Amino acid sequence: MVNDSSACMIEVKNVVKNYVTGSSELEVLKDVSFGINAGEAVCLLGASGAGKSTLLQIMGTLDRPTSGQVLYRGDDVFALNDEKLSLFRNQKMGFVFQFHHLIQEMTALENIMLPSLIAGDDTSSSRAEALKWLEFMGLGDRAEHFPHQLSGGELQRVAIARALIKKPEVLFADEPTGNLDSENSRKIQDLFFQLRDQLGLTLIVVTHDMAFAEKFPRVFKVKDGRLA
Ligand SMILES: Nc1ncnc2c1ncn2[C@@H]1O[C@H](COP(=O)(O)OP(=O)(O)OP(=O)(O)O)[C@@H](O)[C@H]1O
Ligand SMILES: [Mg+2]
Repeated sequence: MVNDSSACMIEVKNVVKNYVTGSSELEVLKDVSFGINAGEAVCLLGASGAGKSTLLQIMGTLDRPTSGQVLYRGDDVFALNDEKLSLFRNQKMGFVFQFHHLIQEMTALENIMLPSLIAGDDTSSSRAEALKWLEFMGLGDRAEHFPHQLSGGELQRVAIARALIKKPEVLFADEPTGNLDSENSRKIQDLFFQLRDQLGLTLIVVTHDMAFAEKFPRVFKVKDGRLA
């Protein structure tokens, strides 16, 4: 089903997203179209409520558009049923959010292993892979720490390791430094570009931090439901 004639890794085509709440309908995205190539680093900017997270979630297949398509290497991802779409997402995409969303009852290592276990990988290879990522993040000696025993920057590094364990092609991040002090924020920013350079990851990042946004070769502004 792969269509190799498509140069774009992700193509957003005429995406419209409306939210219906009670008797009112909110048009959040009004006919958004653009493409992202493999290995690109793209930043989404815009005012609060502009629709950045909505667009990121649709590109990341976490939410379906009201109309329009998202093509991944030429294939319409929303043609897949929910089960196949989850599998696709687990294999191709990693997510990092403002808050780490780690499971409090699990150690750092167990949190990182989770996507691998969900994918059906065996425990020992999941553990070895998780340990490799913890070490990559400079946290090899924090494997048995629970989230409440880690600092903010460490928590976010564990969340990034969890996003990477299934070797995604695209890393989506929604305000990944929004909860960090300036020093940790800069370290996480540098880490994202290191991941793109070393792993060839495609980066799609929402941020309010202009210093972070300026590091991206491509910046899209979401305004009035369209890209400016
Ligand atoms: N599930 C939902 N149901 C109804 N309205 C929603 C829903 N999710 C988001 N919205 C509305 O859609 C608009 C866009 O929300 P979104 O979260 O995409 O904004 P954002 O650009 O990410 O803002 P912020 O910078 O504050 O995170 C907002 O006005 C919000 O109130
Ligand atoms: Mg948001």
